Amino acid sequence: MPYKIRTLSGYLHEYQKSVLDPEEFWARIAESFHWKKSWDKVVEWNFSEPNIKWFVNARLNITENIFERNLFTLGDRPAIIWEPNDPEETNRILTYRQLFEKVCGFANTLKNLGVKKGDRVIIYMPMVPETAIAMLACARIGAVHSVVFAGFSAQSLADRIIDCEAGIILTSDGNFRGSKIIDTKSVVDKALEQCSSVNTVVVLKRTNTEVNMQEGRDIWWHDAIKGVSTENIAEEMDAEEMLFILYTSGSTGKPKGVVHSSGGYMVYTYYTFMNVFQYNQGDVFWCTADVGWITGHSYIVYGPLLAGATTLMFEGVPTYPDPGRFWAIVDKYKINQFYTAPTAIRALMAFGNEPVEPYSLESLRVIGTVGEPINEEAWHWYHDFIGKNNCPIVDTWWQTETGGILISPIAGVTPTKPAYATLPLPGIQLAILDDDGNELRGKSVEGNLCIKYPWPGIIRTLYGDHERCRQTYFDKFKGYYFTGDGVRRDEEGYYRIMGRVDDVINVSGHRFGTAEIESAINEHPRVVESAVVGYPHKIKGQGIYAFAICDLSGQSSEILKNEIKQTVNKVIGPIAKPDKIQIVSGLPKTRSGKIMRRILRKVAEGDGTDFGDTSTLLNPEVVEEIIKGKE
Ligand code: WT7
Repeated sequence: MPYKIRTLSGYLHEYQKSVLDPEEFWARIAESFHWKKSWDKVVEWNFSEPNIKWFVNARLNITENIFERNLFTLGDRPAIIWEPNDPEETNRILTYRQLFEKVCGFANTLKNLGVKKGDRVIIYMPMVPETAIAMLACARIGAVHSVVFAGFSAQSLADRIIDCEAGIILTSDGNFRGSKIIDTKSVVDKALEQCSSVNTVVVLKRTNTEVNMQEGRDIWWHDAIKGVSTENIAEEMDAEEMLFILYTSGSTGKPKGVVHSSGGYMVYTYYTFMNVFQYNQGDVFWCTADVGWITGHSYIVYGPLLAGATTLMFEGVPTYPDPGRFWAIVDKYKINQFYTAPTAIRALMAFGNEPVEPYSLESLRVIGTVGEPINEEAWHWYHDFIGKNNCPIVDTWWQTETGGILISPIAGVTPTKPAYATLPLPGIQLAILDDDGNELRGKSVEGNLCIKYPWPGIIRTLYGDHERCRQTYFDKFKGYYFTGDGVRRDEEGYYRIMGRVDDVINVSGHRFGTAEIESAINEHPRVVESAVVGYPHKIKGQGIYAFAICDLSGQSSEILKNEIKQTVNKVIGPIAKPDKIQIVSGLPKTRSGKIMRRILRKVAEGDGTDFGDTSTLLNPEVVEEIIKGKE
């Protein structure tokens, strides 16, 4: 067990060591794992290509480090506690031994279905233990999983299948989500109309929804695992071999397949999980994210299970059957660490204190947030009312690309401050750069958040497009990884994330490129051109505001706006539906034809007075019109 940080001076000491000798620092942490072969070198890197390798030539399997390494001591401890959508349905508890058996069985099933090391497997499933089993079974045989959030549309699913050329999809007959049933299988069927690479679909029975099973392609999960051996020898992987691909949005249209590798991701998620949340053996940890996002990968599945922790997986939503559901679950399982998103906190806060009052919440020791900036009001409600003034809040800043948490308090160690992610974790060398690439040293500065040294969990490439990886993250500021976020460092050296500085908007902790939403809107035949910006939204953090030039010819604008929302729903999914649509006759443009988003942002934010320098504006008259017609 590597050194666990317990005091502020301990943190400062570890941080210093990690900067003075990163190789020694990470080697010492990595040594607590089981490697089939040790590394020749801890790290080899340059940010210009980029080429980043951790634990060079080491060999391992991440599932051996979850199971074989832990079984003697932890075999009968709960690994996954599953709480169903419907509180009346029976929950499930899988011990490490039981989970291991299921993972091995499903690993053999995948092999029987022809899946080989390196093959991509799409997982489009509900929040049930089988989803974690599927991920781990892929990792066991060296197949590459790519989980797609089950709220994405058929089109988005198809784009991802095509991009990674997956041959197999794991899905369900349907998903329970609050009072709704989502028809997952029909979304898959629709997506597959345009994907020729897929020849196998494994369908888990969950909702008993009647589904169409295509002969020769579709097979029930329960049939596929029948009679399959539960003995499986893990595939030996090079530390740099791909563990998974996870798609995320960028500032341009097409989603990006972020690639994480086996060895570095393992070391990093384990280390950050143990330290940030101060997990102690026997605690019950709950992260409310969906496994379709990186938070679920790193802090529902891999981080906790590598640490031998008990991780809770919740199938439902915070408000079903009532807005006290989260707190009922906390009391039911005596949750010690609770990790959620600011948007959930704000949504629950809007119901007032009453839904919380029946619950004691006394088991809570650490409460965390992730995904977007947390406003001070929500921070205080969370701290005072949920944490009873007694639990440190860990405001954890990180990204799909970083694999794990980079900036965060260490629970109970780092003094917290509302709306501040506070300090970098050991191994994370931050830099704040101005727009010309000069590093702003000293305190009280604001600029672009960059990182100057790799950490084991960093993105290795974008699947099938290394050049795009270079351009997106390593090109704007040479020699640095650029996060896309703005940041402020205060007098104490604490970091506060100011939000994205690129054309990415963060809606309820979900990331969308404005271009991605615009191209969905433009699929409506009456839309000529559109521009999307974010604006402050009380619950979602940022809302989506779309300006669209349309051919109305006789149609009512209300009907058209609704149709546009439905189009986005169909192309991306319900989470990307614009909150507001304003039909306009033109968009403010520069003489070179570029949309001046700065002006649109101001209008959307409700500040229709100060537009800054508008001397390059080609068509000032549309600005007047846009302000008048504001939604
Ligand atoms: C973007 C990454 C990391 C898991 C969830 C989102 C924003 C994330 C915080 C935070 C302020 C945050 C950033 C970042 N973000 N955490 N604690 N405070 N902003 O992952 O979809 O890859 O999005 O989310 O803007 O760049 P993601």
